[in-house]
Amino acid sequence: MTTSLTTSTTTLPTTLAAADPDENATYAAALDRSAVLDALIDERASGSDVDDTGDGARFRMLTGDRPTGPLHIGHYLASLRNRVRLQDKGVETFVVIADYQVITDRDSVGEMGANVQGLVLDYLAAGLDPARTTIFTHSAVPALNQLMLPFLSLVTDAELRRNPTVKDELALSDGRPLSGLLLTYPVHQAADILFCHSRIVPVGRDQLPHLEQTRAIARRFNQRYAAGHSVFAEPEALLSEVPLLLGTDGTKMSKSKGNVINLRDTADETAAQIRAARTDSDRRITFDPKGRPAVANLLTIAGLFLGAAPESVAERVRDGGAQALKRVVTDAVNEALAGHRARRADLARDPAYLTSVLHEGNARANEVAERTLATVRAVMGMSY
Ligand code: TRP
Repeated sequence: MTTSLTTSTTTLPTTLAAADPDENATYAAALDRSAVLDALIDERASGSDVDDTGDGARFRMLTGDRPTGPLHIGHYLASLRNRVRLQDKGVETFVVIADYQVITDRDSVGEMGANVQGLVLDYLAAGLDPARTTIFTHSAVPALNQLMLPFLSLVTDAELRRNPTVKDELALSDGRPLSGLLLTYPVHQAADILFCHSRIVPVGRDQLPHLEQTRAIARRFNQRYAAGHSVFAEPEALLSEVPLLLGTDGTKMSKSKGNVINLRDTADETAAQIRAARTDSDRRITFDPKGRPAVANLLTIAGLFLGAAPESVAERVRDGGAQALKRVVTDAVNEALAGHRARRADLARDPAYLTSVLHEGNARANEVAERTLATVRAVMGMSY
């Protein structure tokens, strides 16, 4: 067993204020920290093997998705590509398919099996390599879930009710009663992050409160149950620089609005979706996010896939109007995704392989989680 208690921690800039009233200031600080973290990742990429607190060793990262449906181009641009980049830099990568999170705010599990398989397909097609990246599901890793019990003892109910994500989801739930799992899922997410001693958590802005909660849990665990020893290091958010993309109708992307371009869609389906996209009657294409949000969004999508600034895409289209713009966007998306889609289709022909990837990922996650739980039991005087 490699578990050791240590009081050393890696030096990172001063911590974010836990209860910063100004969300923008918190976000700006998190962006600064992400830049520092990116530099540290390069330094640590070729480090020695990971020890259980991650100190002085190669960084580990964990991130994940809820298996609620197909991944779309927003996921691809903001997170999938970035995960592959970090994996390829040498960061030891964990990806949780958060199946228990699906039932925080809905009554049924939906097409769970198919959704999980769809995620694995997109992960592999995007370049996550199961030899280097552990892909696993919540429900298959009992020791991870058990960590939730000691962690729940470290948070107050008031703190859980204040969580902005929980509040938002509560507001969306239309007065339906709030489940205990919705209220406590940020603590479950802390278990996802801490079971593998992940130091890096690539997330979007909406997930920052969860990261703060996780950091508080790590700190409190060390203080309360481990006499100040660092059993859990505090993880850091790595924010994505990709701007928030809208759906093809210029409003928030949402499956139910039919305004998304999914990774699994065919080139023809993508072309049809973009043909139906909202634009405006001004023939001259300009990048004006405030005045022309729908057009700006299409320019942003094309720019991200082409590796060009949206302004330069607008220059290219100029007086061609919406039609020319849509052609440029369609070609950009379809060309950039052609390889991904071909690999995805190939992989889909081999469901046994997908199952084996998950089995191996789950086995590895179980090993890591059991080791962590053994340490937690030991420091809590519960090794019988
Ligand atoms: N809550 C995340 C989402 O809805 C998914 C997730 C689950 C996650 N566990 C995580 C993200 C741990 C980062 C770290 O997208």
